[in-house]
Amino acid sequence: MKTLDTLLLLALAAGLSFNVHAGGNAAAGKAIASEKCQACHGADGNSTDPQYPRLAGQHANYLVKALSDYNSGARSNPIMSGFAQGLTEQDRKDVAAWFSSQSGLHTPVEPRTVSK
Ligand code: HEC
Repeated sequence: MKTLDTLLLLALAAGLSFNVHAGGNAAAGKAIASEKCQACHGADGNSTDPQYPRLAGQHANYLVKALSDYNSGARSNPIMSGFAQGLTEQDRKDVAAWFSSQSGLHTPVEPRTVSK
C-alpha cells in the first residue's frame, strides 16, 4: 500500500511539472530560436538592441499567448506577424519553453515605503 501511495504521489508530481512547461520542449525550441529568432531577440532571448524585446525569463504562457495573438491578428506588428505565421502550435510551446527557461527578465521588488 505504501508503495502504491508513493507511486501515485510521483505520478502527480510529474503531471504537475509537465503542466508548468505547458507541453513545450525547450531543446526543440532552442533549435527554432537559433534558426529564426536569434537575429533580433538573441539566441537565449537576451536581446541587446532595445527595439527588440527581451524574451529570456518571460513566463511561457505569456510567450505562447503573444505568439498566438500575432498569428491570429489579435496583436499586430509588421515584423512579428510574419515570423509568428511560420510557427505551429507546438513550435510556439517549444520556443516559449526555451526562452522562459533562460535567465533574463525578473520582477524587481520595490522596498515598501510607509507614508504617514
Ligand atoms: C526581424 C526581427 C525579429 C525576429 C527575427 C523575431 N522577432 Fe519577435 N519581435 C520583434 C519585434 C520588433 C517585437 C516587438 C513587436 C511589438 O511591439 O509587438 C517582437 C516581439 C516578440 C514577442 C512579444 C514580446 C512581448 O514582450 O510581448 C515575442 C513573444 C516574440 N517576438 C517572439 C519571437 C520568436 C519566437 C521569434 C522566432 C520565431 C521571433 N520573435 C523573431 C522582432 C523580431
